[in-house]
Amino acid sequence: MRDVKSLQGKYLTDAWRTTERTFPVVEPASGAVLAHAADCAAAEASQAAEVAWEAFLAWRSTSAFARATLLARWHDLILANEEVLATTMAREMGKALKESRGEVRYAAGFVGWYAEEAKRVYGDLFPGQDPDKRLLAVPQPVGPAFGITPWNFPLAMVTRKAAPALAAGCTFVLKPAEQSPLSALLLADLWLEAGGPAGTLQVLPTADPAAVAGPLIADRRVRKLTFTGSTEVGRLLYAQAAASVKRISLELGGHAPSLVFEDADLDVAVAQVMASKFRNAGQTCVCANRVYVHRSLVDEFAARYTAAAERLVVGDPLDPATDIGPLVDEQAVAKVERHVADAVAGGARVTTGGKAAGGLYYPPTVLTDVAPDALMLREETFGPVAPIVAFDSDAEAVRLANDTEYGLAAYVYTRDLARAFRVSEALEYGIVGVNDGVPSAPYAPFGGVKQSGIGREGGPWGIEEYLSVKYVSLGLGPA
Ligand code: SIN
Repeated sequence: MRDVKSLQGKYLTDAWRTTERTFPVVEPASGAVLAHAADCAAAEASQAAEVAWEAFLAWRSTSAFARATLLARWHDLILANEEVLATTMAREMGKALKESRGEVRYAAGFVGWYAEEAKRVYGDLFPGQDPDKRLLAVPQPVGPAFGITPWNFPLAMVTRKAAPALAAGCTFVLKPAEQSPLSALLLADLWLEAGGPAGTLQVLPTADPAAVAGPLIADRRVRKLTFTGSTEVGRLLYAQAAASVKRISLELGGHAPSLVFEDADLDVAVAQVMASKFRNAGQTCVCANRVYVHRSLVDEFAARYTAAAERLVVGDPLDPATDIGPLVDEQAVAKVERHVADAVAGGARVTTGGKAAGGLYYPPTVLTDVAPDALMLREETFGPVAPIVAFDSDAEAVRLANDTEYGLAAYVYTRDLARAFRVSEALEYGIVGVNDGVPSAPYAPFGGVKQSGIGREGGPWGIEEYLSVKYVSLGLGPA
């Protein structure tokens, strides 16, 4: 039986190895130590760069069909191991089990999709002026890629990067978040079981992200950096990657507005803003962070939304009835508390929740009459808190929605098709859900504009990030 204990103290390069130092992985629900993870540092990172390069030389020459077969096996193994993956995730970062199971399927979805896409990386034979030349655009893998993933989706953010990389013929080195290394190690173990060649996928847990990231980003053999996390860290990594002019994908912070127009179907709007806001206890980059409702509906929306929030079950993430588990750590709780206190000091009214519930638990919280300068309307809260604000016109709603440095996801609730088009076109965001609070899917483009990032993950767009086009001009010579 595969379990986290067997991966204690281990990291994966060309084989499973151990470090002298380890760090504890603590369960947010209980504060208990779940396991001790290998604490990798610069030496392991340099070794990983070497392994990634050597493995790449062989992996890039395998056929797309062979890579597709391995990815398809990995997909099946992830699904076959749903329970251990979901339970590990729930324990190491607190995601409610029913959502954790959903994430296992979401994560497998990327692997399944890119298993198929590997075979559809086509080049072009294109016309030129000279009749005696043949011109080709040949897609090739960019080279070894280094990925840094967050704790909020310990599996899906890994497969969203590693699956297209491997499908394209790149090797992949992963530094998982220090809060959730175990899920990533299990995933890598399944890749090996699927037959993934040594060194194609490596995992380096660490308690000191900079110690691992620094050498890998500086290494010229590593050709691509892909990061999901905060805008603040993304800026630093972007600057570091400039020294070796790496290809880069950044999926950074969000501050998603939900706009509920006067013609919205209220049942749909309430249900979808609930799903968007309280997914993973509000700890996603695309969670509704600001809920703008047309003044004619705002009281009814707030009443129904508050009632729905009160029906959510807060508790042990391993209990199948739980909707909202603990937040990931004390800083997360402190940030939510700071945002709520600030809004209340500015005159906001708490209609439900509003007080930490002990340990790392924070109940679903709804606020109305939130002042425009409240912190929660300016910064990403990353917790189960929904501020509701009234607006009077479409122009005002769009202005409020766009008044941020972020541009990841936005949501529109309306039954008017023309309004749906006009507003979604005016929103400065990479993703717009129209009457849809959870638009993410393995086959769809995910990514932001402005300071929410660079590049797209998912679908055919996601594999492009791991390919570069080689132009081959073939002179035919005399006939
Ligand atoms: C994220 O929060 O970064 C990912 C959310 C998603 O894939 O929907």
